[in-house]
Amino acid sequence: MAFATRQFVRAASSDAATAAAKKLLIKHVTIVGGGLMGAGIAQVAAASGHTVVLVDQSDEILKKSTKGIEESLKRVVKKKFADKPEAGAEFIKKTLKNLTTSTDAASVVHSTDLVIEAIVENLEVKNKLFQTLDKFAPEHTIFASNTSSLQITKMANATTRQDRFGGLHFFNPVPMMKLVEVIKTPMTSQKTFESLVDFSKAVGKSPVSCKDTPGFIVNRLLVPYMMEAVRLFERGDASKEDIDVAMKLGAGYPMGPFELLDYVGLDTSKYIIDGWHSLEPNNPLFAPSPLLNKLVEEKKLGKKTGEGFYKYK
Ligand code: NAI
Repeated sequence: MAFATRQFVRAASSDAATAAAKKLLIKHVTIVGGGLMGAGIAQVAAASGHTVVLVDQSDEILKKSTKGIEESLKRVVKKKFADKPEAGAEFIKKTLKNLTTSTDAASVVHSTDLVIEAIVENLEVKNKLFQTLDKFAPEHTIFASNTSSLQITKMANATTRQDRFGGLHFFNPVPMMKLVEVIKTPMTSQKTFESLVDFSKAVGKSPVSCKDTPGFIVNRLLVPYMMEAVRLFERGDASKEDIDVAMKLGAGYPMGPFELLDYVGLDTSKYIIDGWHSLEPNNPLFAPSPLLNKLVEEKKLGKKTGEGFYKYK
C-alpha cells in the first residue's frame, strides 16, 4: 500500500473511531403523533427496551393509539410466543411499562435523547412543532422526522440544531416492515447519523442511508413506477387488472401497482407527486395524472373509502 493511501486509510478509520466513540446511546424517545406511524414506532421502540413518551393532541386520540398498540402486541405475541404464553404476557407487560403518553410535547422533552416527529404531512405544522421543541429539549437531543415527501433540510433549518437533525423514515405497518431509511442532510453530523443508525438497529430494523432527496430510496422508485402504471392504463395500452397481474406474475411483486395505490391511498399518492412536480416541473416522472386527480376529486381514495381504482365492499 502506498504511503499516502496508508495515511488516508489511517485518518479515515481514526475519524470513524472518533465519531463512533462520541455516538449517542438513545434510551429515551419522544414520539410526536400517535397515528398509524407514530403508534407503530412507539410500539417497536418500547418493545426493544426504550423509555417512550407518545404525544398527540388529545387524550382521546392517545387512548385509541394505546389500544391499537395493545392489539398489535397481541398479534406479535401470537406469532413469536405461540408455545410460551407466560413469556408473551411478560413481553406485553414490559413493553407497556416502557410507554407513557402526553398531550404536551414541550413538557416531556426535557430529558429525551431523541424526538421522532410523525404528525400531519404539512411543512408549516412540522416546522412550528420543531421550533417549539427546540427551545425545550436539551442540547444533546436529536430531532428526526418520519416524513415521506418533505425535505428534512427545511425542517432542520427551522431549528438551531441542524447538525443534530435527520430523517428516520419507517414503513407501514411499522411492527412488520424491517426497513428504515436514515436520512442525512448536508448539515447532519456523522455522530447524529450513526446514532440514528444504531437506534434503528436497536428497534430491530435494517437501516439504509440516503441523502435528503425527494422520496429518498423507496418512494423515489415506487411512486414514479405507480404513476407510470396509471399512465399506461390512461393511454388504453392495458387494463388495470392485466397490469396488476403482469407485475405480480412477471416481476414477482406481492401486489400490482393499482392494488398498491389503493392500499397507500390515492390522496397520499397525489399529494406526493404534486409536491415533487412543483419542485421539478419538467421531470416527466413527476407529471400529475388527470385520472388520479379525478378519482381524488370524487373522494375515491382507495381501500380506506371503499373505492379507488377497485371497489371494496
Ligand atoms: P396519521 O394521520 O395516522 O397520524 C398523525 C397524527 O398526528 C394524528 O393522530 C394527529 O392527531 C397527530 N398530530 C397532528 N398534528 C399534531 C401536533 N401538532 N402535535 C401532536 N400531534 C399531532 O398519519 P400517519 O400516516 O401516521 O403519518 C404521519 C407521518 O408519517 C407523515 O409525515 C407521513 O408522511 C409519514 N409516513 C406515513 C406513512 C404511511 O404509510 N401512512 C409511511 C411513512 C411515513
